[in-house]
Amino acid sequence: MRILSLVMMFALVACSSLRYTESMSPSSSNDPGVTVMTPPYLQNMSQTGMVIMAEVAENIPLAVEYGKTTGYGFTVPMELIASGGGTWFCRGIISGLEPGTTYNYRLVLPSGDGITGNGTFATSPARWEDFSFAVLGDTQQGNTVGSHGDRIYWEADVWEPGNSMFSHMVEQEISLFLGIGDHAADGDDYSRTRLSYLDRMASILGQHVPYFISWGNHDGNSPDHPLRLAADMPSRWRTDSLSVHSPGYGSFAFEYSGVFFVCLEHFTTTALAADDPGNDITNGWLDSVLSSRKARDARFRIVSVHVPPYCERWIDGDARLREHLVPRLEKYNVDICFSGHMHGYERGYVNGVHYVIAGGGSYLDCFEPLVYEWPHMLIGGQVNGEPANVPGEYRRQSSYGVLGPPEPIEGGIFHGYARVSVRGNNLIMDMHGFNADGSYIGILDSFEIK
Ligand SMILES: [Fe+2]
Ligand SMILES: [Fe+2]
Repeated sequence: MRILSLVMMFALVACSSLRYTESMSPSSSNDPGVTVMTPPYLQNMSQTGMVIMAEVAENIPLAVEYGKTTGYGFTVPMELIASGGGTWFCRGIISGLEPGTTYNYRLVLPSGDGITGNGTFATSPARWEDFSFAVLGDTQQGNTVGSHGDRIYWEADVWEPGNSMFSHMVEQEISLFLGIGDHAADGDDYSRTRLSYLDRMASILGQHVPYFISWGNHDGNSPDHPLRLAADMPSRWRTDSLSVHSPGYGSFAFEYSGVFFVCLEHFTTTALAADDPGNDITNGWLDSVLSSRKARDARFRIVSVHVPPYCERWIDGDARLREHLVPRLEKYNVDICFSGHMHGYERGYVNGVHYVIAGGGSYLDCFEPLVYEWPHMLIGGQVNGEPANVPGEYRRQSSYGVLGPPEPIEGGIFHGYARVSVRGNNLIMDMHGFNADGSYIGILDSFEIK
């Protein structure tokens, strides 16, 4: 019965869709006729839904089968869209799920034959539970400095330690990942999106962990750019016209187990004229979500914005964000503001808000000078005119494929990601450091909010 109705459903989809082409042919499980370019990855998690995305080489009707067991029982057709690289991004938007529940899923052909193995995902819990999430920005490139200098970190695999950091997050059994932007060198370019995002962030992390992104300046400035087409965020559910937004473009907010997250879009928060101090840089959207009942009732509030309001290396931060965003972080009791853009680590605390820069996802800004000293930025950067060195040591290559001796970490220049653990009404952030080859250093900095 199920297979019969599935075939009928595909017939309807195929007949009504311009995307149906002659490449569609009867398939068997031995020769499915589909090349999976990017395995399924998890997007847009909520209490009742999930979006399954993947990338295939052929324009062919596909669906997601899902259910509480590997018998599945439910099917939703996938939408296909040209990637810009001759391939197709496909997404299945699943709704009507139960909160805090694990589901099985796979991608199938109209024949009912699976083209991927069984995967699992869990929906957001309805109750407050202990959980953890990870945060990292600027995974856009390899770890050689290139045009930014000649310091070489690990030539044997320039995608380390990024790959190992993503794998480490999966091993830590985080419930979600928060990307702070710059996840491709050029999000408007398919091949760059393939290298840093599809082959790494989506494939290594996204297969196992749903992720959310506050978009950065390298991520492409149009909803039609390949990186943006390859993502599905809660901006898809926005109904207002306060700014441009699509599934892969724009600011959005979401809640997970009593923690309220706001992810700001770089290209809509900075493009707006913001001379009026009453302007929240989002035409009122930010004020509306941070003053919402859901935000006020949350146990913690987290805001993510790619460019940091305060920074000490390379730039001093962003004056417009200090004028328009910082007062709102304080007014609405935001606990942590995460940023990237500067490729390294800095941390501070002022007027009730923690500011964390966690941009050590690819090459490091070791050649950028310390340009400003904010009195409240105490980790990384500088304190009283001297580099504020994070305790610990870091190793990069001494020659090709050989890891050199430990060197003191200078001013927050190391690779690492933040892991945030929420336990009841306590929150702990640990900064996990990695050597250039992807080997693990340990926790290099921590703070706690009670
Ligand atoms: Fe960056
Ligand atoms: Fe950036």
